[in-house]
Amino acid sequence: MPEGWLICAYLSEIRVMNKKEVREISNIKNKRVLVVCDFNISLKDGRIANDTRITEALPTINFLLKNHCRVILVSHLGRPKGRDLRFSLKPVADRLERLAGVKVELINDFLQEHNRQKIKFMPENSLILLENIRFYPEEKANDPHFAQSLSQLADIFINDAFGASHRVHASIVGISRFLPGFAGILLSKEINMLDGALKRPKRPLIIFIGGAKTPEKISVIEKLLDIADTIALGGAIANTFLAAWGYGMGLSLVDYEMVEMARVVFWQATRKHCALLLPTEVVISNSSNLKDKIKIVGYDQVPPNVAIFDIGSGTNRHYRELINTAGTIIWNGPMGYYENPLFQKGTNRLLKDIADSKAFKIIGGGDTLTCLNNKKILAKIDHVSTGGSAMLEFMKNGTLPGIEVLQNK
Ligand code: ADP
Ligand code: 3PG
Ligand code: MG
Repeated sequence: MPEGWLICAYLSEIRVMNKKEVREISNIKNKRVLVVCDFNISLKDGRIANDTRITEALPTINFLLKNHCRVILVSHLGRPKGRDLRFSLKPVADRLERLAGVKVELINDFLQEHNRQKIKFMPENSLILLENIRFYPEEKANDPHFAQSLSQLADIFINDAFGASHRVHASIVGISRFLPGFAGILLSKEINMLDGALKRPKRPLIIFIGGAKTPEKISVIEKLLDIADTIALGGAIANTFLAAWGYGMGLSLVDYEMVEMARVVFWQATRKHCALLLPTEVVISNSSNLKDKIKIVGYDQVPPNVAIFDIGSGTNRHYRELINTAGTIIWNGPMGYYENPLFQKGTNRLLKDIADSKAFKIIGGGDTLTCLNNKKILAKIDHVSTGGSAMLEFMKNGTLPGIEVLQNK
């Protein structure tokens, strides 16, 4: 039996996309609707670095407003430990107000009685945004009482937070015990695009993974070995794999707890006939700011007192050759510490090469979207996903916990 057939059979077996979408709800008019969004955008000096995750939520929000609904928006931002106003959704509320053309009230604590009353008596056709849902530890703990308190604000809930749907949290999964849930327009678009691309991917399927969320991405890589022809790494996650080969990584960001797991993944890659590629050339510096200290070296020549901050042009050349052979390309995660412009080159070169290729191209991720802001180049990408780890996890399992709990058609 051909290998490709096996992969298709594997994917179609686990894929269940029979969820009812918000536009299919017959009696939506005048409803009180809680919409869970992924407004986890990157902030630079308190300003929004990229608002794609907000603009992508507008179709659902506008649809509900047109139907005279009372719309209560819920989202997380970053990973705060308790109530920390550096992670406030205020910049999101301001941007949303401008984009939606409707006043957006930010409710700082929806558990307080006077705020619950305010939400109860909000006029139809209006928008409320609850302050960062991760200010409450109960959110991540998927606490049922907390989920219930949230559910009491509305008649139904809509999940439009594709990027956070891999989290088993109260606002994503727990709430479904108390309210009927439906897919938002963005969520269903993401599912349809990824589902379509993965059911019968044009081969070779090449997946690029970068970024820094090593623990979650490494377990996804393990599963992706089953469907990808090649997985090529960059960013901090590549450092952990290089460390697993025994190379000194100096002061680079390495997740040492994941080194063992990286070794297992290498071994499995060989067994599953999937190529797992690492950067051959890296950009090092002993400070993330000093230009004159930047050097390009081989992966096996990183001195102990410096760190890797980007992939080198040699790695890009290698990856470009690969890109030129691809049928389908999927990419998540920056190739370097892109917040510093000195270390954006590897990521920008990869973007250009992918955009120029004839393959079917999907790119996704919170930080990935932030560092890829060249609209002209992005227009050449077939699907720009709002999900990073969620997108990879969806590719791995064919569904996500936050999708599973929604109502069927
Ligand atoms: P995404 O949100 O696109 O899924 P991640 O959240 O996994 O991506 O990772 C993005 C972060 O990874 C960025 O803050 C970036 O600076 C960091 N990063 C990537 N490569 C490196 C590196 N070599 N050293 C330090 N940080 C890195
Ligand atoms: C993301 O940016 O990948 C999502 O918003 C999920 O964020 P989290 O990894 O903090 O759950
Ligand atoms: Mg991120």
